[in-house]
Amino acid sequence: MHYSPIEVPLKASGLAKRFGAVQAVSNVNLEVGAGTALGLLGPNGAGKSTTLSILMGLLAPDAGEARVFGHAAGSPEARTLTGATPQSAGFPAELTPREVLHYTAACYGTPLRLDELVDRFGLEALVDRRIAGFSGGEVRRVALALAFAGSPKLVFLDEPTTGLDTASQKGFREVARTYVAEGGALVLTSHHWDEIEAICDSITLIDKGETVLNAHIDDMRARTKAKHLSFALPRDTAPPDWMQARHDGQRWHVETAQSDAVLRQMVEEALPFDDLALEPLALEALIEHIRQEEALQ
Ligand SMILES: Nc1ncnc2c1ncn2[C@@H]1O[C@H](COP(=O)(O)OP(=O)(O)OP(=O)(O)O)[C@@H](O)[C@H]1O
Ligand SMILES: [Mg+2]
Repeated sequence: MHYSPIEVPLKASGLAKRFGAVQAVSNVNLEVGAGTALGLLGPNGAGKSTTLSILMGLLAPDAGEARVFGHAAGSPEARTLTGATPQSAGFPAELTPREVLHYTAACYGTPLRLDELVDRFGLEALVDRRIAGFSGGEVRRVALALAFAGSPKLVFLDEPTTGLDTASQKGFREVARTYVAEGGALVLTSHHWDEIEAICDSITLIDKGETVLNAHIDDMRARTKAKHLSFALPRDTAPPDWMQARHDGQRWHVETAQSDAVLRQMVEEALPFDDLALEPLALEALIEHIRQEEALQ
């Protein structure tokens, strides 16, 4: 097979993996460019972690192919270009983060930017303590720093912020954005839609082991006129049925591609709304919208 001199950081096609009776992954296709972040999305059991294990070269696929900068996933060349944090990470409890980070950088053959990692992941108070006594969130932060310790060009993160407090989640977003802005390629799974939206350029949605949507978030936004309309109403007042509005306990919400017409009609019907907001669709609703549009075509 011939590969062009400028290789994409990650390209996978037709991935499949079965565990006994469970077809965990049946047809996953995805691609990640340099300086971009991909959100790998899907419900519990969709096959995200299995896909990541294949991409990292930890699992051999039954079918399909994954290439990292043109090298077979799992090959020594691919591994030295790749960093990762798995969904659950175990560390030798007797070691300190400083030791683990040094060891990791040495395995990659790259100099360790320890001060930068300590600073970015808030490890100042932890770096010379034994990991044995760390809290769940502290272990998670070390695992995250580890993904970046070898100065990789491609990073896989499986639910990186699960169990992190809000300050650490915010810190992680900055780290991820900086890494991508500096030219890194990132693949991220998360059940936090706002996190995906804050970090990722594109998404791959998988369901029951299959890719059901590959899209750039900007393209999806450009493709749909749908907007999120929300407003308050006096207690004991409900919007007319035609609006198909839902109530979250405080405000009413409508997703519509005809926001102008809806607004005009609301005024015409003298609906006593208050504090009205018209916003772009949140990512989850946007994806739902695009999938419905595609199903209609
Ligand atoms: N080693 C294994 N042996 C047997 N079944 C497995 C194994 N690993 C994964 N599976 C099954 O494959 C399916 C996909 O699992 P996977 O961990 O990839 O899902 P996921 O999308 O990462 O889910 P989550 O959002 O819960 O992390 C599940 O049905 C799971 O039970
Ligand atoms: Mg998983």
